[in-house]
Amino acid sequence: MSKQLPKDFVMGGATAAYQVEGATKEDGKGQVLWDPFLKKQGRFSPDPAADFYHRYDEDLALAEQYGHQVIRISIAWSRIFPDGAGAVESRGVAYYHRLFAACAKHHIVPFVTLHHFDTPERLHEAGDWLSQEMLDDFVDYAKFCFKEFPEIKHWITINEPTSMAVQQYTSGTFPPAEKGRFDKTFQAEHNQMVAHARIVNLFKSMKIDGEIGIVHALQTVYPYSDTKEDQHAADLQDALDNRLYLDGTLAGEYAPQTLALVREILDANHQPMFHSTPEEMQTIKKAAQQLDFVGVNNYFSKWLRVYHGKSETIHNGTGAKGSSVSRLHGIGEEKKPESVETTDWDWPIYPRGMYDILMRIHNDYPLVPAIYVTENGIGLKESLPSEVTSKTVIADPKRIDYLKKYLGAIADAIDDGANVRGYFVWSLQDQFSWTNGYSKRYGLFFVDFETQKRYIKQSAEWFKKVCERHVIPD
Ligand code: BG6
Repeated sequence: MSKQLPKDFVMGGATAAYQVEGATKEDGKGQVLWDPFLKKQGRFSPDPAADFYHRYDEDLALAEQYGHQVIRISIAWSRIFPDGAGAVESRGVAYYHRLFAACAKHHIVPFVTLHHFDTPERLHEAGDWLSQEMLDDFVDYAKFCFKEFPEIKHWITINEPTSMAVQQYTSGTFPPAEKGRFDKTFQAEHNQMVAHARIVNLFKSMKIDGEIGIVHALQTVYPYSDTKEDQHAADLQDALDNRLYLDGTLAGEYAPQTLALVREILDANHQPMFHSTPEEMQTIKKAAQQLDFVGVNNYFSKWLRVYHGKSETIHNGTGAKGSSVSRLHGIGEEKKPESVETTDWDWPIYPRGMYDILMRIHNDYPLVPAIYVTENGIGLKESLPSEVTSKTVIADPKRIDYLKKYLGAIADAIDDGANVRGYFVWSLQDQFSWTNGYSKRYGLFFVDFETQKRYIKQSAEWFKKVCERHVIPD
């Protein structure tokens, strides 16, 4: 049976500055942590990406034509403050004014993220989210943006703080690529929560017309079996992936059980507890009481079973199905049930996990007034047919099937009381993936990275109908 979404439910596509803009050396942009990291890896270049820096008008026109009401965009901090702080680059500021004006021209409302994984290089070198300097400079940059861009009514402080910290210090897939450092992971998570809270409190004290939220990567974690040991492994993974963050940003305090799980992971790895002060906790509390919304990025779920060996993580960054491994000492091993299908990058497809995470927020964190699903989508290996014209439409039935099931799960959560106000597909157009390069395509619009021509995918046509009718067809 087809499912209904509320009439005022907004829909559109998501992007992130570094993944779409390209032009990494243009108009005085400063280096970010990824520039030297990707160069050293030699796998792929962040240029030209989807060349959004020059082609934003074309992409916004497509978004409008295909029924979108909203878009997620991030500001590249280092376009505005090339060094992270100090001198302002007016050409970067002018670019974002042009971009936001184009959004208005095409009747697309932007939701703007201040930090989407692209820490300016100098601040990264100075300790990234582990340094107080980064926090202070981030608050200054946010204040500058709030004053400079009054046309923006929907702000997001940080994209996926947990996934940033975990990939920087636990799995080692993001620079500085350290593995097994749970102490640094939790400290970076706590510090990001403090930075987020300071910005929310600042935003509210400035009495800005608009709303502010944060975006979390949330994957529901299930036990692999019904044994007590597997359940406990799932609880530990959940503390790392979701719970500390949900507590900090949505309840304004870490529940004793959450801290006990965190301490257990750290003790097992002989690492110290993260440091927090009473003032920081007051700041966090105040922000949770004023937060307007939480953004949920959900693509997959996890299943955990007990594991007592050494930590071992292998990232599937190529799409070679079945190549990923995640066994974390002090937590457990990821092992999904046979019945659950995966993408080529080993991400379990499990719409029920979306429903469960939305209901968990609804039931366990009643302080937060609203939820947006700020990212959801499927990465696929896709290519152009040998003969193309400007009218070529690319078939992507797997994406349609995925979106249909996940949107259906969201509709179910809304029916059961969750206040979900909108949905952003990851991604608007094809762009590169941080750890998988250009071969993992998520877009509604296909980008030929050689010519930068755009082609429509069938999913864009399907999504248009959902945007227009607010009905998810069978
Ligand atoms: C989210 C990020 O974690 O997932 C995006 O906010 C990212 O920036 C997306 O691209 C998909 O992840 P991946 O690793 O497949 O690119």
